[in-house]
Amino acid sequence: MSPALSFFILLLAFSKADALYGHYLGRCQFSSYDGHDAVYLEQMYFNKILELQYNSTLGKVVGYTMEGKKAADILNKNARYIHHQQWKLQFCSRAVPRIHSGGLLTPVEPSVWVRSVKDAGSKHPGMLACSVYNFYPKQIRVTWLREGKEMSSEVMSTDEMPNGNWLYQVHTFLEYIPRPGEKISCKVEHASLVEPQLYEWEPTSDSGMNKIIVGTAGLLLGLVFSVGGLMYYKKRTHERDLVPTTEVLYPENTL
Ligand SMILES: *[C@@H]1O[C@H](CO)[C@@H](O)[C@H](O)[C@H]1NC(C)=O
Repeated sequence: MSPALSFFILLLAFSKADALYGHYLGRCQFSSYDGHDAVYLEQMYFNKILELQYNSTLGKVVGYTMEGKKAADILNKNARYIHHQQWKLQFCSRAVPRIHSGGLLTPVEPSVWVRSVKDAGSKHPGMLACSVYNFYPKQIRVTWLREGKEMSSEVMSTDEMPNGNWLYQVHTFLEYIPRPGEKISCKVEHASLVEPQLYEWEPTSDSGMNKIIVGTAGLLLGLVFSVGGLMYYKKRTHERDLVPTTEVLYPENTL
């Protein structure tokens, strides 16, 4: 039986009748490329309450609740359990170079969309949004530039939100109406980019509404011409239908 499993049975043994759910979270933390600084952490929860934690830096389990402390005492005396935790730390640090070479941690360049948005709740009628999608790692800096100068007021930003697939997104808003001819851009600084990237706001291509208006106008114009053409065609064929009759009658009338 694995130490983790035996621990769970141990924890269940002194849990209350209303206990519903136990889980543990194993974490391998590192910032190096070779894994020499890896730390292995294992947290045991019962009904979402952190009962105890193994920390490889301390080399032992620390209890946080009364039951957790009791269990920690038992586990710390269990040589097999401690040995198994040390093995997990080794596994963790040996995995680090493979994780790096596997490309799992190589930076991923974001895709950026600068647009104007309407915010119903805002006093300001004009708002620009800079949406930065699908980047890795999480650390990023997104700023607004007006004529190349950073703007600090009227800027709002969401947190970096995880997509759930190792990639992140962040949205930055600027409450501002650009004057005609003014250059507003969104600046993105990220590990995946050799140098900061600027994404300029373009008022014309920006609004989908314009495209809809132009498209509708084109459609109407086409409709007018085709209906007009059809009417003209009908009129002409009608006139031609009348021609033989007049031709037949014409000689009689003139005679
Ligand atoms: C693990 O233990 C080390 C050394 O005491 C400490 O610096 C670190 O913050 C601990 N980690 C956690 C997540 O508690």
